[in-house]
Amino acid sequence: MPTSSASIAVYAGTFDPITNGHKDIVERGLAVFDGIHVAVADSTSKQVRFSTEERVELVRGALRGIEGEERLKVESFTGLLVDYVASINASVIVRGLRAVSDYEYEAQMAHINRHLMGSIETVFLVTSEENSFISSSIVKNIASVGGDISRLVPPNVAKALSEKQA
Ligand code: COA
Repeated sequence: MPTSSASIAVYAGTFDPITNGHKDIVERGLAVFDGIHVAVADSTSKQVRFSTEERVELVRGALRGIEGEERLKVESFTGLLVDYVASINASVIVRGLRAVSDYEYEAQMAHINRHLMGSIETVFLVTSEENSFISSSIVKNIASVGGDISRLVPPNVAKALSEKQA
């Protein structure tokens, strides 16, 4: 069981790019925890459209002005997520669940992280219904053929995606 105070939670992901669904989870997380650290994975098995620095900047821009912003930190991390969580003295990982189909992958990650460091707990927050169909891949796919993504991602992300396309 966690021994440190669980008031800081880490919300980690590739965020390539951050979507309204991710933003929704951050806002929900801020309502539950004293602080949220958004951790942008530097090394990822995914083929990314945006560099780590770009993804961090897009997350920062997307979350600017949200309620509780002063309790938010955004940075990249390398290596194991559990090591990053421990390095900032946190003991909770937050993940978003959109649908039952997310569960298998998320449960596997939670089990692996518990296997790696038993003191760290994973907490799941459920995405709002209107964001439950969004994924970063879908957003990139729609943007690549000139579709409207303005209701799927924050404005700075929509702009960055259209600039990448140009
Ligand atoms: N709203 C919208 N989309 C969401 C979402 C939500 N609430 N929750 C998840 N998603 C989507 C993402 O857009 C992404 O879609 P994509 O595959 O189309 O890009 C997908 O679901 C999951 O991506 P994300 O949440 O960014 O997580 P991830 O699986 O890419 O990242 C890490 C997982 C980075 C946290 C994990 O790989 C990790 O911890 N890496 C470090 C190494 C390590 O510790 N490994 C051992 C543990 S696995």
